[in-house]
Amino acid sequence: MKFFFAPVQGHTDAAYRHFHAKEYASTGVVYTTPFIRLEKGEIRKKDLRDALSPLNVGHDVVPQVIFRNAEELDALVELLYAEGVRRIDINMGCPFPLQTARGRGAATVGNPACASAVRDIVESRQDITFSVKMRLGFREEEWEPLLSVLNTVRLDHLCVHPRTASDQYSGQLHMQAFDAIYARSENPVVYNGDILLPSDALAIMTRYPDLHGIMVGRGALGRPSLLEEIATGKELEASERKRRMLDFHRELLEYYRSSLIGGDHQVLSKISPFWEYAEPEIGRKAWKELKKASTMAKYQTALAMITT
Ligand SMILES: Cc1cc2nc3c(=O)[nH]c(=O)nc-3n(C[C@H](O)[C@H](O)[C@H](O)COP(=O)(O)O)c2cc1C
Repeated sequence: MKFFFAPVQGHTDAAYRHFHAKEYASTGVVYTTPFIRLEKGEIRKKDLRDALSPLNVGHDVVPQVIFRNAEELDALVELLYAEGVRRIDINMGCPFPLQTARGRGAATVGNPACASAVRDIVESRQDITFSVKMRLGFREEEWEPLLSVLNTVRLDHLCVHPRTASDQYSGQLHMQAFDAIYARSENPVVYNGDILLPSDALAIMTRYPDLHGIMVGRGALGRPSLLEEIATGKELEASERKRRMLDFHRELLEYYRSSLIGGDHQVLSKISPFWEYAEPEIGRKAWKELKKASTMAKYQTALAMITT
């Protein structure tokens, strides 16, 4: 069983991944970068810096691309290949309207030309290991023709978040659709969605014994030890979890303070999202104060409210 930290724009940047891997090193987690896209025929500089950051050394990081047609996919793969990248994850699931309106992300699921583009690139670039991260499409049945095409090529894995684009990130998971993909995929399947506790992961691993892996996003942002706890089968005490989360946070904060040139305001805007999903871990009072802290002094006072 493999464990994956899901890409989450605005959270899992190179520094976050680096210090997470350092604190929770025993897990052997695979990290995926937030999606990389083309802008005027070039990879956005910020995306490239993140994908090629020296902070990526020492743990597994797979760059993810988002595309809308064969030209974009080919260009992204070529540009990354030229930079030495040999593992690429293909985003076929992003539900953000800014992306889907342009035919990217979840909009590629029901588009046969996008399915062919993926098939062609995987077939023609055997020197690159590809994976696909998908959701069900705009409607629930859209994944079926895509799966038939993906079954004709060799992927490292197919990661499935069993929701439609209009579900965004909440509401009932479509587990029947996941059952069908799990049964019919010729590629190894990774499950992704709503794993918040070690017991959630255990339930999935029990229900799907042949699963290749589990990917966790928001659950691991709110409880960064979660993947370690799942991998080792050992749940940590709340005080231990908070102590280690604070260690991880301290290193990340120090890094932002030493590397960002925009002062406290910029540091706060980078570090505040760290707590976005952590209310159940740290309690409502500290969580609310951290969220609204407008100065570093107020932020430090709020941090001290987290009791271990
Ligand atoms: C704010 C936000 C940003 C995200 N950015 C990406 C992204 O760049 N690429 C991607 O494949 N998925 C992205 N996702 C989706 C997550 O990787 C994951 O599939 C989703 O949150 C469901 O898993 P979870 O329930 O474990 O969080 C994002 C999700 C959120 C909430």
